[in-house]
Amino acid sequence: MKTILITGASSGFGKLAAKQLIKKGYTVYGAARRIGQMQDLVDLGGHAIEMDVTNDESVKEGVAQITKDQGKIDVLINNAGYAQYGIVETTDLEHAKRQYEVNVFGLVRVSQAVLPHMRKQMSGQIINLSSVAGKVSFPMAGWYASSKYAVEAISDAMRAEVKGFGIKVVIVEPGTFKTGFDDVAVDELEKLANDKVYGDKIKSFKNRFSEMYQKAPTPEPVINVLEKAITSKKPKTRYKVGMDSKMAIMMKGLLSDKAFDNVMLNQFGLK
Ligand SMILES: NC(=O)c1ccc[n+]([C@@H]2O[C@H](COP(=O)([O-])OP(=O)(O)OC[C@H]3O[C@@H](n4cnc5c(N)ncnc54)[C@H](OP(=O)(O)O)[C@@H]3O)[C@@H](O)[C@H]2O)c1
Repeated sequence: MKTILITGASSGFGKLAAKQLIKKGYTVYGAARRIGQMQDLVDLGGHAIEMDVTNDESVKEGVAQITKDQGKIDVLINNAGYAQYGIVETTDLEHAKRQYEVNVFGLVRVSQAVLPHMRKQMSGQIINLSSVAGKVSFPMAGWYASSKYAVEAISDAMRAEVKGFGIKVVIVEPGTFKTGFDDVAVDELEKLANDKVYGDKIKSFKNRFSEMYQKAPTPEPVINVLEKAITSKKPKTRYKVGMDSKMAIMMKGLLSDKAFDNVMLNQFGLK
């Protein structure tokens, strides 16, 4: 059975994927900063590793523990991430850098630690959690969407670079699904609500965003796609998940940039 490392397994997609894959008999290592939030994975027969994807030592130690215990890592699911929404102009650059440190460099840091083992075994799979925001940017999402655009570009490069070693790279582009994602995003938005110039727009965005997530579907479709990518002999390069993701990406292709801007401004009550 395959050995799978899932980052961001203390919540949301990562936790649910870990549970489903443990139940299917895979050897699953969940990784996150909040190790206490992964006891349920251990109780099910999985493993929990304390890992901060922004920290070199933490990532190296986590990966070393898995290869020592199992002798291999077959699948890496780079799932850890969050959204730093806000106005491009007034977002503190330290917050912007933190967004990239987790969503982009964190993903690359874990991949760099795992790839030498996959190259040695001449097989493996890396599944990167992008987003509909990896294809479509919109107001307040400049930093988050650009981090996911970066995930898309890095994945496309990496896919071709490691193909000769029998390693597959897959991108997953979910739309809106109810996880812990919106709580983290809203916490960050609330810190920005006193912005003197854009405060009202930020509040309006936050309200529309919260409404969207109140109605959002539960994350099973994303977990099923992750399992499909792992079990498929020929996984697709990209999996869009959710009607909203498919619609937004299609509309972005069909509409002019200005028309698409208007749709997004309306959607988030920013007109
Ligand atoms: N839910 C959606 O609607 C949606 C849509 C498109 C894409 N996504 C993407 O899906 C991925 C998973 O998000 P989710 O929806 O499942 O959100 P979530 O419930 O908030 O889970 C995020 C996970 O990332 C982990 N994480 C955050 N910072 C980390 C760090 N520095 N080091 C290690 N782990 C870290 C968190 O664990 P700790 O805090 O314990 O470290 C948590 O387990 C993200 O990449 C997100 O951008 C989500």
